[in-house]
Amino acid sequence: MTPKKDTTPTDSGYYGEFGGRFVPELLMPPVLELTRAAQEIVASKEFQDEFTAILRDYVGRPSALYHCPNISRELGLEFWLKREDLNHTGAHKINNTIGQALLTKKMGKPRIIAETGAGQHGVATATAAAMLGLECVVYMGEIDVERQAHNVRRMELLGATVVPAKNGTKTLKDAVNLALKDWIANQRTTHYCIGSVIGPHPFPELVRDFQAVIGLEAKEQFAARTMGRLPDAVVACVGGGSNAMGMFHAFVPETSVRLIGVEAAGTGEPGCYHSSSLSQGTPGVFQGTLTKLLQTEQGQIEPSHSVAPGLDYPGVGPEHAWLQATGRAEYYCLKDDRALNAFFVLCRKEGIIPALESSHAVGWVLDNADRLPKGGNVIVCLSGRGDKDMGIVEEVLAKDPSAYSDIYSAKYAVKGPKEGK
Ligand SMILES: Cc1ncc(COP(=O)(O)O)c(C=O)c1O
Repeated sequence: MTPKKDTTPTDSGYYGEFGGRFVPELLMPPVLELTRAAQEIVASKEFQDEFTAILRDYVGRPSALYHCPNISRELGLEFWLKREDLNHTGAHKINNTIGQALLTKKMGKPRIIAETGAGQHGVATATAAAMLGLECVVYMGEIDVERQAHNVRRMELLGATVVPAKNGTKTLKDAVNLALKDWIANQRTTHYCIGSVIGPHPFPELVRDFQAVIGLEAKEQFAARTMGRLPDAVVACVGGGSNAMGMFHAFVPETSVRLIGVEAAGTGEPGCYHSSSLSQGTPGVFQGTLTKLLQTEQGQIEPSHSVAPGLDYPGVGPEHAWLQATGRAEYYCLKDDRALNAFFVLCRKEGIIPALESSHAVGWVLDNADRLPKGGNVIVCLSGRGDKDMGIVEEVLAKDPSAYSDIYSAKYAVKGPKEGK
């Protein structure tokens, strides 16, 4: 099946061979209701005006496009950051939750549910729900509840109920399963606010369109600073893929711009768990969509891992699978220790504490500057801030107090090993 035009999926939500709606019969009514709402409500001028005003006045958009002088000098290229970490609540997730919460209200539903890994999407949903007067329940893997205790407390302060998923790997995919069950049971009153460009149609398109503001702003801001030019590459980390799709969308038609997505390679040891669904996964159906995922030959979902909780997911949005299949976007993976290296580099060189998720995108550029044009312009999506990851970083340093100085001094930047596709 071919998409209707470049990036619009078919009516049943296909991007090439990927996407679609693989849901039990019981979920078809709310999924179809959402499809109609996306076409009628989200597309209306009234909705778009209200959405844009909230992003401006409440979220703080446009977020800055920052040229990093120190890293640029060291790498020999112009290194820019799209500062989604400066958004209200500290990550790109808020763009999408404001959109979906506003839609929930306009659909006349009083309750919103969500799943969260790193906790950023949960905090963003709880925030949007509080602001728009919706009841909010957030599902979260038990392990993530422990890893991201600070974000759990934030959600509770914002009035949300946090429900831990105690089954399976006790991470994001188990939280999604609980949320889907809740949606089936409460579909008349409840909207399921999916946190990435995943799930059955129309979610991948809906979430992408709410996140597309990232790339649209970056494109305009970059052009304004460079007398109308385009960057050579835009780079973003890929968990489910929403910050990357948001960043890529405006640039997809600009074929001179390389679109680079960076997945998590985990420890990189043979047989280790990782989260590189595009680089190392195979096509299959997962949580309502046909996409690339980590599975055994028998089709069992494999556990995933990343030092960055928000990347710890065994699937990826179907539009990414399609962009990879068509060759329009390139996807690489980066190991935990290289992401930590980038975390420290950004702290010390630019005074910015990045999320460990975003550190994967930064780290790929630090380690692969020689794959990019000398003196060229690269925009990295800094999807979130790293306060939420202080516990993880401290744990790494507690296990190996020399990790920071080793990583930072010995393996800094372009001297690091290259990651393969
Ligand atoms: C800061 C941050 N960046 C990136 C991600 C990964 O999600 P996505 O690939 O949908 O942008 C997360 C997920 O929680 C996140 O919190």
